[in-house]
Amino acid sequence: MPEYDFSGKVAFVTGAGRAQGRSHAQHYARHGADVVVTDICENIETNPYDLSSSDDLAETANLVEDEGQEALKIEMDVREEAEVEAAVEEAIDEMGKIDFLANNAGIFNAADMTEMPEQQWDEMIDTNLKGVWLCSKHVGKHFIERGDGGKIVSTSSAAGLVGSPSAGHYVATKHGVIGLTKTLALELAEYDVNVNAVCPTGVDTEMISGFAEAYGQEMMDEMGAFSGPWSVFEGVDMIEETDISEAYMWLSSDAARYVTGIALPVDAGMTAK
Ligand SMILES: NC(=O)c1ccc[n+]([C@@H]2O[C@H](COP(=O)([O-])OP(=O)(O)OC[C@H]3O[C@@H](n4cnc5c(N)ncnc54)[C@H](O)[C@@H]3O)[C@@H](O)[C@H]2O)c1
Repeated sequence: MPEYDFSGKVAFVTGAGRAQGRSHAQHYARHGADVVVTDICENIETNPYDLSSSDDLAETANLVEDEGQEALKIEMDVREEAEVEAAVEEAIDEMGKIDFLANNAGIFNAADMTEMPEQQWDEMIDTNLKGVWLCSKHVGKHFIERGDGGKIVSTSSAAGLVGSPSAGHYVATKHGVIGLTKTLALELAEYDVNVNAVCPTGVDTEMISGFAEAYGQEMMDEMGAFSGPWSVFEGVDMIEETDISEAYMWLSSDAARYVTGIALPVDAGMTAK
């Protein structure tokens, strides 16, 4: 594992209750950063599987502390501007500042575009796209006011690079995250802020197991890009949370100081096909 020195830095991670977000929080802590761990800790009506609980978020905070770093736990819905603004203020009050924003929170569900109810569309766009904008807006303002640079990394998807039947709303958000990333990279460059996106292929998390349980294998097979093979490597179907965290760490580090506005596939070759 590469070594980065994040001592004295503060990371703010969304969707940190479990899976990739928890792994990012642990990785930031392992490299010496204190971590603000945030999550909605309740379900979203049109999403068919359970999201993280308060206990899950508390466990992530414990894991950060196990790495010898400070953790601040905040329950926050990325869709709600008042909650995001209050969480960013609390993080700055308690931790002194924010250096890294990790926009990881997201949901995944399915319906054909000609059948999808409006609420399902809206809840997806609000979580996966508006949420990235709201967190970037409020942490971005802090970066500008503080005048000491900053890093924003957001999770797009291989679905930010290709289409997929039955997930047009998800695909639209993940393409949108890349457009937002490029725009923020241009707007924030003069403040020494790097803004990048990561595009994972299938990662073995509760999102995928919850989706598969809700819709069944038939829907997974119909979805083309989201059904196998998700990898060009023999014997590899899905990748692991740590594979995405490693990209986050590099993009948050000085090793990537001149990398901005990119959408980095960590997709086991899936989108090369
Ligand atoms: N798992 C995959 O195959 C895969 C592939 C590509 C991209 N992604 C993306 O990676 C990110 C992390 O996904 P994961 O696989 O860890 O899923 P997950 O469902 O295990 O974790 C997502 C976390 O986000 C939280 N969350 C959801 N809506 C929220 C909201 N409105 N406000 C705050 N928190 C909220 C959930 O409670 C949960 O803790 C997501 O953006 C997802 O779209 C996942």
